[in-house]
Amino acid sequence: MLYSNELLAEVGRWVFVSMLGTPQYTRDRCITGIHGLDEITRGGIPYGATVLVGGTCGSGKTTLTMEFLVHGAQMGEACAYFAATEPSVKLLENIRQYTFFDMEMVDKGLINVFDMDVVYSWLGLTKATFDRDDINSLVKAITDIVNTIGVTRLVIDSVTTLCYKIPNDQLIRDFLFTLGKTLATQGCTSFLVAEITSAGAKAHWSSFGVEEAILDGIMVLGDIDRMGHLLRFLQVVKMRGTDHSRAKYAIELTPMGVMMTPMLKWGVDSD
Ligand SMILES: Nc1ncnc2c1ncn2[C@@H]1O[C@H](COP(=O)(O)OP(=O)(O)O)[C@@H](O)[C@H]1O
Ligand SMILES: [Mg+2]
Repeated sequence: MLYSNELLAEVGRWVFVSMLGTPQYTRDRCITGIHGLDEITRGGIPYGATVLVGGTCGSGKTTLTMEFLVHGAQMGEACAYFAATEPSVKLLENIRQYTFFDMEMVDKGLINVFDMDVVYSWLGLTKATFDRDDINSLVKAITDIVNTIGVTRLVIDSVTTLCYKIPNDQLIRDFLFTLGKTLATQGCTSFLVAEITSAGAKAHWSSFGVEEAILDGIMVLGDIDRMGHLLRFLQVVKMRGTDHSRAKYAIELTPMGVMMTPMLKWGVDSD
């Protein structure tokens, strides 16, 4: 009996799909709770990942990373936010205006906000630039906090400000690698904020370029000019340990948190 080409093609497709099979092992996920983001990463960020959140000024990095902690706190997780670009008092004054943020989470010790300047003072790090010993004591201080409080979600906003104090690329790389490795060992999923001046195709996703290869994930936030109106977008560029969409999504910062919609058909370039 002769088989039609279509039937053979169908059988071939079936054999191919069967060979792919269902995955033997799927990493546990940290559900961010951010609208759309867990769908983009097919179920959340792999536990213990260190994700760079690179974005231009005003693109929503602080709002998104704070919302990430809020959802953790709602599930009873201990969270830590290291504020390096603005004083924590000012940060909380701004963020508490959002409906999604509840100051009680701070009062109850679920969201712990640390001023990076205060951490530097504890450690006696008053120099303008850090050497290897300074970096080691900084990583130790952060991991001690994570251990003591039992932190499972962490944000450093921003690592760019911190990395300006580190004199060369190799030391920045060592700092981020050691920090990421230690946090992963503690089971802590971390967002490291990076400030970038442009989120365009040719841009680095981070401020120094050296962070990109080391970290587990890269998420970019930026603006797209659409008829004189700046729209915000989010794009997951890399996420080790999971399949994910690499499309750009339009985001809005609403009182309830970040809201996402696909922008596939728009076909516009970011600046
Ligand atoms: N209460 C609010 N509701 C909605 N949008 C806000 C609110 N407060 C500030 N914003 C918007 O958020 C922007 C700042 O977002 P932010 O997360 O701090 O950005 P980034 O950290 O990337 O600089 C502001 O420029 C403003 O457009
Ligand atoms: Mg910010």
